Amino acid sequence: MSKIKIAILVSGQGRGSNMQAIIDACRDGRISGEVVAVIGVKPDAPAIERAAAAGVRTFILNPKDFADPADYDRELLSTLASVQADLICLAGYMRKLGRPIIDAYRNRIMNIHPALIPMFFGQGMYGHHVHEAAIERGVKVSGCTVHFVDEDYDTGPIILQTVVPVEDDDTPDTLAARVLVEEHKTYVQAIQLFAEGRLVVEGRRVRVLPR
Ligand code: GAR
Repeated sequence: MSKIKIAILVSGQGRGSNMQAIIDACRDGRISGEVVAVIGVKPDAPAIERAAAAGVRTFILNPKDFADPADYDRELLSTLASVQADLICLAGYMRKLGRPIIDAYRNRIMNIHPALIPMFFGQGMYGHHVHEAAIERGVKVSGCTVHFVDEDYDTGPIILQTVVPVEDDDTPDTLAARVLVEEHKTYVQAIQLFAEGRLVVEGRRVRVLPR
């Protein structure tokens, strides 16, 4: 099977654990792919340092450096084209992507979210906030969702979800840690399904073709 080329987008604060899980899975063959770029917003972000340490090509593009958001979109598109990305993976990337990027890579951009969408999702619901909200609401299960990215926050077609229990004595930190273990596995599985050409998007549903 030919390998897909993956570009990963990370944020300024991101620790890069999902990014690392994807790099590792490409290297040990669980993903038939290669991480050809990690794109971040600042050079000293933990995820960027981690990518560089792993020998992956990094690019820094900070939206704040562009007076016009359309210029940022153009630069991002040209970076993605220069590495011939087949798939873009958001890994702790919290911004909404511009319309030109969504249009150019429709159903080829994935995101991982640390809850079972449509619970605890949307603008402002990211990272720790998600687990705080889940504990506060008293849900008995949470988990993670890998989905294709569309124009809005966390609304695109859902590819895979994994459920974890919420224990009585959980804190946001303990729940986050339990979910994160599953994020790494679920993201790798979703990317491999994509690499195998087994994901068919029908409206808001994603069908997984049998082998
Ligand atoms: C992950 O838990 C991911 O699900 C979350 O940010 C964290 C990044 O961690 N993403 C969102 O909340 C997106 N809405 P990582 O940098 O260690 O992968």
